[in-house]
Amino acid sequence: MTDSLLSVQNLQKHFPITKGMLKRQVGAVKAVDGVSFDVVKGETLGLVGESGCGKTTTGRLITRLIEPTGGKIVFDGHDITHMSQGRIRPLRRDIQMIFQDPYSSLNPRHTVGAIVGAPFRIQGVQTEQGTKKAVQEILELVGLNPEHYNRYPHEFSGGQRQRIGIARTLALKPKLIIADEPVSALDVSIQAQVVNLLEDLQNELDLTYVVIAHDLSVVRHISDRVAVMYLGKIVELADRKSLYESPMHPYTNALLSAVPIPDPKRRKDRERIRLQGDVPSPLNPPPACRFHTRCWKAQEICSQVEPPLLALATGHQVACHFPENAPASGDVAVTGAGAVTAEGALQAGGAGDAAPGEGPAGKGTASAS
Ligand SMILES: Nc1ncnc2c1ncn2[C@@H]1O[C@H](COP(=O)(O)OP(=O)(O)OP(=O)(O)O)[C@@H](O)[C@H]1O
Ligand code: SF4
Ligand SMILES: [Mg+2]
Repeated sequence: MTDSLLSVQNLQKHFPITKGMLKRQVGAVKAVDGVSFDVVKGETLGLVGESGCGKTTTGRLITRLIEPTGGKIVFDGHDITHMSQGRIRPLRRDIQMIFQDPYSSLNPRHTVGAIVGAPFRIQGVQTEQGTKKAVQEILELVGLNPEHYNRYPHEFSGGQRQRIGIARTLALKPKLIIADEPVSALDVSIQAQVVNLLEDLQNELDLTYVVIAHDLSVVRHISDRVAVMYLGKIVELADRKSLYESPMHPYTNALLSAVPIPDPKRRKDRERIRLQGDVPSPLNPPPACRFHTRCWKAQEICSQVEPPLLALATGHQVACHFPENAPASGDVAVTGAGAVTAEGALQAGGAGDAAPGEGPAGKGTASAS
């Protein structure tokens, strides 16, 4: 993609598990295990998956808070994968992260002015009108009273604190913001306000977002495209309309079936898919398709051959031998080196129990209830 601001290729983070005095490595937590995606300038990519699937680790890798084990991260034309702290410093202004918990991510002993002004000091940035004025302008931009410059975080509500966190990321006019569960610690009534604020800021400041959430409902309105992660891998990536209206991966279907529907009639028509068991440990993930231990469509091949992430001509990507809503086999192309051919995979999909267009409501299987 030519106008990509961020390109992540086969990104990996394996946290070593060590034992004994000599710290001998006895295993590794494969938190992120071969993730690839692009983020185009000005778009919002939603990154969704259950707890522990590697969303935050992906965010921390992109912001280079941690060192990747493998793969490549290209930001704004620069390969930052293993860039030294010295060389990456100027680029840090351009990539910022909003953290999940507005309570613990703000230092309680610092005033709002000191918190939002910190990036100016750390980066040694002088502003024409002085740091105080610049910070007050940012406070106003995020809907906070500039007069509250000298107040402390505990004097604010949860939603206001998240606004302070957002203000801090905006100080140095970043290009890319990784928002890690920006609203999940907030009351439902406040969530929409903060999501709307992020949208307004994107339009006003020409921002590009990666928004992380464990729930597909949170990213629905803000995302242009959505990537679904399971146990360190992306299993489906598509534009918002395709993903919500014609999801192809069984896991996406299960996540979607848990999204509340306000309309009682439509709610009645839909069946909730309850996934059995917990997410397996990333220390020892299931072989081949990692979802096969919980998937109601799994067949023998699923535990033997890893389904490659295939891209349809529409750009919809899915890693499944038996995808739902599968189009005609002529509409696919393979991305990367796959273990099975596109045609083979989709033929296998046709042989499965899902007819094209069958949604989650159509399944009467052991694990769907
Ligand atoms: N520093 C670390 N050392 C060892 N394992 C880690 C470390 N950080 C994360 N992990 C493990 O990596 C996996 C992915 O963690 P991560 O925090 O990225 O998940 P997540 O998708 O953000 O989950 P959540 O929705 O709970 O925030 C988890 O199993 C986690 O325990
Ligand atoms: S490859 Fe098999 S186990 Fe994996 S999601 Fe598809 S049908 Fe389920
Ligand atoms: Mg997380």
